[in-house]
Amino acid sequence: MIDKATVQKITDAADIVEVVSDYVHLIKRGRNYVGLCPFHNEKTPSFSVNSVRNFCYCFSCKKGGSPVNFIMEKEGLSYHDALLQLASKYNIKVEEKELSDDERRQLNEREGLLVANEWAMTQMEKALSDTEEGRSIGLQYLYQRGVTDEAIKKFRLGYNLDSGHALADAANLAGMDRKSLVDVGVLGESQKTHGSYYDRFRGRVIFPVLNPSGKVVALGGRDLKGGMAKYINSPESAIYKKSNELYGIYQAKSEIAKQDNCFLVEGYMDVIGMWQSGMENVVASSGTALTDGQIAMIHRFTNNITLIYDGDAAGIKASLRGIDMLLAHKMNVKVLLLPDGHDPDSFAREHTPEDFRKYVNDHATDIIRFKAQVLLKDVGNDPQKRVAAINSVVSSLAHIPDKVKRNVYIQECSRILGVSEEVIEGAVESSRSDIIEQQRRQRQANDIDRIDQNENNPQPDISKNIRPANSDRMVEMYPYYPMERTVIFQCVRYGMLDFCEVEFEDGSTGMINVAEYIAEDLQADNIWFSFPAFAKTFNRILDLKEDFLKEYDAFEENLFKERKEMLQKGYDEIATKNMNMVEIRRAERILEENVEEEIARKRYDFARYYAEQKLSSHQDDDVRRTVMDAINDEQPLSNIYMRNNPVSERKMELDRMRVLVPRGVLEWKNEMLNQMIRAKMKQLDSILGRSNPEEEQKILMETQALMEKRGQLGKVMGDRTIGKKIK
Ligand code: CTP
Ligand code: MN
Repeated sequence: MIDKATVQKITDAADIVEVVSDYVHLIKRGRNYVGLCPFHNEKTPSFSVNSVRNFCYCFSCKKGGSPVNFIMEKEGLSYHDALLQLASKYNIKVEEKELSDDERRQLNEREGLLVANEWAMTQMEKALSDTEEGRSIGLQYLYQRGVTDEAIKKFRLGYNLDSGHALADAANLAGMDRKSLVDVGVLGESQKTHGSYYDRFRGRVIFPVLNPSGKVVALGGRDLKGGMAKYINSPESAIYKKSNELYGIYQAKSEIAKQDNCFLVEGYMDVIGMWQSGMENVVASSGTALTDGQIAMIHRFTNNITLIYDGDAAGIKASLRGIDMLLAHKMNVKVLLLPDGHDPDSFAREHTPEDFRKYVNDHATDIIRFKAQVLLKDVGNDPQKRVAAINSVVSSLAHIPDKVKRNVYIQECSRILGVSEEVIEGAVESSRSDIIEQQRRQRQANDIDRIDQNENNPQPDISKNIRPANSDRMVEMYPYYPMERTVIFQCVRYGMLDFCEVEFEDGSTGMINVAEYIAEDLQADNIWFSFPAFAKTFNRILDLKEDFLKEYDAFEENLFKERKEMLQKGYDEIATKNMNMVEIRRAERILEENVEEEIARKRYDFARYYAEQKLSSHQDDDVRRTVMDAINDEQPLSNIYMRNNPVSERKMELDRMRVLVPRGVLEWKNEMLNQMIRAKMKQLDSILGRSNPEEEQKILMETQALMEKRGQLGKVMGDRTIGKKIK
């Protein structure tokens, strides 16, 4: 753990222009900078860097954020590792927080295993190129399979000498911890003679599995002698969970983002074959079905995935496995079948890169269309098979979160399957409600887990990928999501600005800020944010007040000095000019006005940007994301009005805030009442005519009361008064 003060130091030091400039050529444009987006391919710059507010944003692919976000996204690093990278860029000494013995042990263990793997891999890379045996056996094998020197270097291929104890001896000589080498599966410990070690990968060509930050987490060793096990792989360990890694991700990640597509193949050699054919955005699941964790990893870089399989029966079957999971992750999935008997590696060897790429472009098919066609082919005249096929397609359709997309597919599948749209739609919608219920339960369980996990010690969790913008799925799960979103966004923007004066319980009066006003207003009706990321962000904003007040005092003190200096400098300047008394007075008056204006602007900016500055680099993914979404959602003020007129810009924003903030909460409450009224009416409908007049009467009254409340809400729109109690 990095302590809070150091995190602050790093995020304060990190300058977005400097950080981005390491990756992007930036051109100054007004107060901002622009450049070609490093996250996707483009010819005209849509990547903008705001040097004043210290964040970047791509108007086209919508990626960006604070310096920490940028590094995380660009380098595929965790929050913690991104901070370390920034710290080293700015020469900030990081004192990791005192760890508990248990944490330290785990950290040391992981560190030790990574060191062991890295050491072994380096040895094996050298053995491949620098030894006679390596060249004549390992290298010879790779060349014969068409692997180039460039690929060997890029994928860090190696060779484990065949003596049986080459690495074990070298480890001994180098003083390497052999226990760690055993844990990562490089060495085996002899059962008979305790304390003697042997090489587990002896006589094999080695393919290292690198994690997204390029660390060697596992090795795969290819047999060259026609032995029983074609591959042996590293065992699972503290640094290797097979289901969370993807072979090739480190080499492919930036190309995946640029091409906005990821090819998924089965094996090590397939990745290398595709790479050599110029398709560098490729990863392998290493022969197993995709997992949630792997999908989430790909999802960090793109929404589009193309599965590549052998066109034989097994390949077709494999391609249909797990597509519901991909669809549920909001991925656009295509599938490409190679001619029977080919994998990407063999296909690459028999075709030129141009032909291969053309084949891919011509033959990639949308997965749902593909599935419907494949299943239909199997049906024949069997009505039972037909029903099973339709159900299977319906299940996939129901996993598509986006309604518009879902409907397009429903139309298409209705055509392919020869079933009416209404029938399919009905089946999909009913299957969908089951899925949503399931997901809701899952999320609830996750939320509880996450709260339990202690917010100060967050696990980097790449499996959750909630980045909703009003999607229908969010509304289904959180009925007030759109209103909550509006309110939390206002809170991010204006949270620390003064809102109004209130009387506290003890009779004293004081200012509350916008965030506190919103909290008060919500609590008055016993409501709160239901969407977890918003609730968390809101609490963080409320927590800021204490620090804000402390820093504000220091800020005012500085401002006082600054004002004095600005005035002094101005007076001095005026004195050097040759002016008469009247002119001097006028010049001084203008100077004073300008200085006051400058001071007022600084004071406003301090509060206006305080929350976003503090929280856009916050350790919690949800908080950071919500804050960035709020910033990116800002509506610019009318250009004509504010041009060269900062006074009115500020005043306009304040005026707007005073109207929008209360309205946001009111609209939320209004929608709640609407839904409650609708529910009551439905209830009334269901008992109507069942001769239960008392019950009817009761519900009728309740409905009436809710409607009255809704009417009152409308009236208070104009003049809001708020309750007295604060906290
Ligand atoms: N695999 C494995 N252990 C095995 C067989 C396969 O771990 N005994 C994994 C490897 O990651 C392999 C992938 O499954 O790359 C695909 O298997 P396969 O197609 O059999 O191997 P290829 O990669 O095609 O290897 P080669 O071309 O050398 O036969
Ligand atoms: Mn192969």
